[in-house]
Amino acid sequence: MTSTPSSGITEPTARQEGDKANEHPERKPFQPVVEVSSLMAGHGLAFGKVGDALSNKEAEHRLKEIGKWSDVVAELSNVHTRYDRERAYLEMAAATRTIALELAGAARAATPDEAALETLFKKLDRSCEACHDSDY
Ligand code: HEC
Repeated sequence: MTSTPSSGITEPTARQEGDKANEHPERKPFQPVVEVSSLMAGHGLAFGKVGDALSNKEAEHRLKEIGKWSDVVAELSNVHTRYDRERAYLEMAAATRTIALELAGAARAATPDEAALETLFKKLDRSCEACHDSDY
């Protein structure tokens, strides 16, 4: 963890197994390599996939799809928190990451709750809008 405890950008538990990759001597601190607009093209695509799976109640592997594409939104948002932007902006990227992870978790629950999935999806949408409606 590099953030201070009071930070709104505190990172969730890393999923990568082991820390070997980070110990590599030539490994540099993570830096995004594309413009935010490209990252957003990915956000839009993944968010749309979550919405499609959510509304298509008959689709095969529907919950798996919701979990997977919510994960993609979360990881893209995770990358988003590493841009050289103001703290308030990065906190909004982190909020989207948190909600996307919650949605992915809800889709993988032993007994998935449809109402909870819908609520989290709306919450996710609002987190996107919060940043889009801001001055950034
Ligand atoms: C912390 C800020 C922030 C959050 C959170 C955020 N966005 Fe964005 N988004 C931006 C910015 C900034 C742009 C404009 C990028 C540009 O054109 O330079 C943008 C643009 C977009 C675009 C247009 C991209 C294009 O093709 O140019 C889409 C689609 C998009 N966002 C989807 C999403 C979705 C879906 C979410 C939530 C899952 C989301 N965004 C969350 C900041 C954010």
